[in-house]
Amino acid sequence: MHTPVLLKEAVDGLDVKSGGLYIDATAGEGGHLLEIAGRGGKVLGLDRDERQIKRLTLNVERLKNIKLLQGNFADIEQIAKNYSFYPVDGILFDLGLSMEQIENSGKGFSYKKLRDPLDMRFDQKTQITAKDIIKSSDKNQLYEILAKYGEEIRSMAISQTLVRACTIKPITEVGHLIQVIDEAIGKKDTKTYARVFQALRIAVNDEFENLKKALQGSVHILSEGGRMVTITFHSLEDRIVKQFIREKRLKQLNKKVFAANPRRFERSAKLRIISR
Ligand SMILES: C[S@@+](CC[C@H](N)C(=O)[O-])C[C@H]1O[C@@H](n2cnc3c(N)ncnc32)[C@H](O)[C@@H]1O
Repeated sequence: MHTPVLLKEAVDGLDVKSGGLYIDATAGEGGHLLEIAGRGGKVLGLDRDERQIKRLTLNVERLKNIKLLQGNFADIEQIAKNYSFYPVDGILFDLGLSMEQIENSGKGFSYKKLRDPLDMRFDQKTQITAKDIIKSSDKNQLYEILAKYGEEIRSMAISQTLVRACTIKPITEVGHLIQVIDEAIGKKDTKTYARVFQALRIAVNDEFENLKKALQGSVHILSEGGRMVTITFHSLEDRIVKQFIREKRLKQLNKKVFAANPRRFERSAKLRIISR
């Protein structure tokens, strides 16, 4: 079971009004969404991962004020308009992965699941898997991905070793990738594994571009005075949110951007409460 991050702070930030419209753009296992609905909001929950939506639908189908859809939050404006679910009073983005995806998706998100295939796609519409990226990238491209998205200082050594290993045998499973990382850095280091896995996942799902599109779309469906709450786990993700606030001249309501380490597998969380 997933423990929702900064549950109270995030939902307080949305300032939920009874009968108001809210989009949970990252429904996941429904922790935030149920809290919003429990405070009287009508919620449209999106998730790019169909499994998440199917599981959540089974849990909440009795509840009338929740609608769930599989979709990419990059399309948030179009989705809200298609369902006449706008202008909305609040939008929540709780980025990253949920515990269920790490533990049970079988997609290779976790460095602990040695037999999992290196897939890492949130949805089946995404064409390229993590193993495709490893196979088709040269060492400079891999370096870019690991350094930028994983902030891994040994990115060059790992990239070179990956490219060499691919010439011997394709890297298609988590366990094989771990072996190659061990060889590149000369030891076992779970923090390095986590950074490499994070980087590949961000690249596979084009996560930063999708976030930029989602934020741009969100302002068009948010009511005057409406709230947006973002929970980010990566410095570049947080930078995208900060730039967006500046560019659109929005107000950030919380001075202290809470930092906590609520999910053991991820870094500190940053929460921003934004108003139009
Ligand atoms: C950290 S979890 C959300 C957990 C949720 N707040 C809860 O309380 O259970 C992040 C979710 O965002 C989803 N996600 C990631 N990228 C997405 C995108 N572009 N569009 C929609 N959902 C996305 C993931 O599939 C995952 O289920």
